[in-house]
Amino acid sequence: MRIGVLTSGGDAPGMNACLKSVVDMASNLGYEVYAFRRGYRGVISKDYLVLNRDKVRDIFNLGGSTIMTGRSAEFYEASGVAMAAQNLRELGIDMLVTIGGNGTYRGAYELSTHGIKIVAIPATIDNDVYSTDRSIGFDTSVNNAVDMISNIQATMRANERIAFIETMGRYGGDIALYSAIASESDIVLVPEDKKTEDEVLALIKNQLDRGNHAPIVILAEKQFDIRELSARAERELGHESRTVILGYMQRGGGPTLNDRLLAIRYGARAVQLIRDGVYNVALGVDDDMLFTTPIDKAIKFESHFRKDLYDLFKALHSV
Ligand code: F6P
Repeated sequence: MRIGVLTSGGDAPGMNACLKSVVDMASNLGYEVYAFRRGYRGVISKDYLVLNRDKVRDIFNLGGSTIMTGRSAEFYEASGVAMAAQNLRELGIDMLVTIGGNGTYRGAYELSTHGIKIVAIPATIDNDVYSTDRSIGFDTSVNNAVDMISNIQATMRANERIAFIETMGRYGGDIALYSAIASESDIVLVPEDKKTEDEVLALIKNQLDRGNHAPIVILAEKQFDIRELSARAERELGHESRTVILGYMQRGGGPTLNDRLLAIRYGARAVQLIRDGVYNVALGVDDDMLFTTPIDKAIKFESHFRKDLYDLFKALHSV
């Protein structure tokens, strides 16, 4: 048995631990592992490494992806998928394990329609793969964000400034919401509950009126131009304001314990599924138990935004 593996989309801390787990379990079962570099681009260009236990010994605690990742425009053309499927067949690859987020899932699904057997593992800091409660990398990114927000909070309080702190998350609000709760920030703005600039200023004014002279606003990216919003807050509320975009710092560093465990469990289970003849599925976790969803269903799941946590935040912060 020869299996392929790749990491695709934005990198996520824990991808390397997951790759190691795939290779370790495959080695134990006597399978060969071909790791494609730069995601689906490596499948299209037949750029791969043959991995074994020795080659992945030291990677489990590294951030990023040692086999590199990427988003391939070519792969999303019908001809690109067909070529990738043909290359996999020519290389004698029986099954492909994909490690990545939504785009990676769509790619895996497309390959499955060309007869390639796949197992998809959710890995993205955004936690917006909706067929699972948790994707690899989310826990680390929230921990990183909370550390940074706490540092910013101290200096904002010392100077009595409003802080607009932008998190990643693409079109989902999970990183913003979880890090706002865990850092005891004052306002959270998520795409799942869109607000106007006027509404945001009213929320901040409310904080100022209640005697909070350093309101911390956590915003998920892609909703506002935070520099403009901050300038407007200064102008209209007469209170000094600063902006911070947390950016790639959230994706940096080695995985947390939770991400390591999740990554190791997903990777090992993917290979066990292959051994058991289960394919064209996406792995997920619910209540700390792993489960599978057919890939054609997994790509259609709607947002699993935690309204209960959002409501809790609002109840605690009276916003
Ligand atoms: O999907 C992960 C993610 O980090 C998003 O949160 C962010 O919008 C995007 O990737 C950034 O992508 P890139 O690395 O291409 O700048």
